[in-house]
Amino acid sequence: MYRVLVLFLLIASDSLAQNSEWWRDTFVYQIYPRSFKDSNGDGIGDLNGITSKLDHLADLGISALWLSPIYTSPMVDFGYDIANFTNIDSIFGTLSDFSKLVTKAKSLNLKVVLDFVPNHSSDKHAWFPKSVQKVKPYDEYYVWRDAKMVNGTRQPPNNWLSAFQGSAWEWNNVRKQYYLHQFAAGQPDLNYRSSALQEEMKNVLRFWLKLGVDGIRIDTIPNLIEDSRFLDEPKIPNTGLPDTDPGTLQHIYTADQDQTYDILKSWREVLDSSNGTKKIILTEAWTSLPLTMKYYTYGSNVPFNFMFINQLGNYSTPLDFKRIIDRYLNSIPPGQQANWVVGNHDSHRSGSRYGEQRANQIPMLAAVLPGVGVLYNGDEIGMIDRQLTWAETVDPAGCNAGPGRYNVTSRDPERTPFQWDGTKNAGFTSGNKTWLPVHPNYKTLNLAAQKGVSTSHYGVTKQLVLLKKDQIIRTGSTQLVVIGNEALGVVRRLDFSRTVVLLINFTEKQLKVDASSWLNIPEVMSVYVASVGSKIVPGSRVNTGGINLPAAASIILK
Ligand code: NOJ
Repeated sequence: MYRVLVLFLLIASDSLAQNSEWWRDTFVYQIYPRSFKDSNGDGIGDLNGITSKLDHLADLGISALWLSPIYTSPMVDFGYDIANFTNIDSIFGTLSDFSKLVTKAKSLNLKVVLDFVPNHSSDKHAWFPKSVQKVKPYDEYYVWRDAKMVNGTRQPPNNWLSAFQGSAWEWNNVRKQYYLHQFAAGQPDLNYRSSALQEEMKNVLRFWLKLGVDGIRIDTIPNLIEDSRFLDEPKIPNTGLPDTDPGTLQHIYTADQDQTYDILKSWREVLDSSNGTKKIILTEAWTSLPLTMKYYTYGSNVPFNFMFINQLGNYSTPLDFKRIIDRYLNSIPPGQQANWVVGNHDSHRSGSRYGEQRANQIPMLAAVLPGVGVLYNGDEIGMIDRQLTWAETVDPAGCNAGPGRYNVTSRDPERTPFQWDGTKNAGFTSGNKTWLPVHPNYKTLNLAAQKGVSTSHYGVTKQLVLLKKDQIIRTGSTQLVVIGNEALGVVRRLDFSRTVVLLINFTEKQLKVDASSWLNIPEVMSVYVASVGSKIVPGSRVNTGGINLPAAASIILK
């Protein structure tokens, strides 16, 4: 009797904990504020613009919106260079606009997640000149080092490179030292060996928690702290990249240091001590699988899984997908959830990475596989990259690479304004100019044209967001099957009749798939949703013993 009671209590407390984790089995939606919706005609998106479009997000059915930085910024890195961590940039609006956004979001049952950018500030932050002047305790807020003198000339302290090309060190002629910047020179790295700085950043979190935010996405977390010996990083031979490119070094001293995880834990504690709903932490770390998993242990709920961006692509085979997905799923610690990033503001759009015909495959995988899905604004309508000329390029990652290589490194193509409708500037702004050009395909590819059309990208994505909440997807078993190395099947199963099946054709030709033999599924199932352009009608019944899968198409059966 006693054992039964203990077991019951254990199960009850576990499910209580899981219930409070509101993000489980949902889609989170990233908004890049500059490009979402402009309310004042200046050609740059803003908070009131976002608030005016929250109904769209409620209609889509996502659980939370994560806003890329909205804080005071000189915009060297379009908001990831922050001059005041606790105020809103006037381009985006005011703190009062932010409160209105939060109130409206809550009324629609949408959670609000902010981007927390702790690795660096802007050099225009009030702390930086004080650090230059060695005013205590600001003198230690940044990472300062003496020059290395080589044959009487001043050199940076070591060979570390910025993510945006070139040395990660900038000379300061007043302090007569170099400061570290792992990104642009206008983004000096903060020094987490200063306890005063650590406390400042916790206060930043407390400030936003008081305004009702439901969690944070932590920017570039692996770079928080560096090895204190400041040794040169080893060179990777034969990369074919210019010496200024960070891809030429193994970042063993500037990334993934052990102390990073302890800092994360201290932020988890701050979030956990605030009232109200449980707070979510999403962490951005482009790192190894074991180090990604380690973030769970220290308080991340969603250590971003970027596999569809950096490990798999349109060149991958079904077997590659199966191997990489299985390995990832088998690594998730007990009680934690997997996650699947479809796209973001730093990566080419999924419709461009995989090809327009295959634009729905990654959102479909993100929906059918267990755990949290992460969408980037525009994914839901199948937006694709817009190629920009050198003259149009504004991203520092592109500009610093120069006219010959900007198109390899620039993130502008995936940041163009959201395509709301077919009117001037895609309904993004009433003004004549936009900060990045609108994609010319907006006249046909836009939300207004897709809304209410079940076979459009929007219609498909809406069904996918709904499917995430289905019991089969939330609790069913997961099996991946490669069919002749031409197609991939994902089977989610509660029992034989309660099954969801995703089938993806990896080839450019029509396939006839005997899915019932391969996947042990019912002989007749109905089409829940099919990729745009496949001409397969949702709701139609199919004989799973011989499914016709058009070239590059994907379907979900239920
Ligand atoms: C990662 C962000 O996603 C990216 O946009 C930014 O440039 C760097 N971190 C620096 O903050």
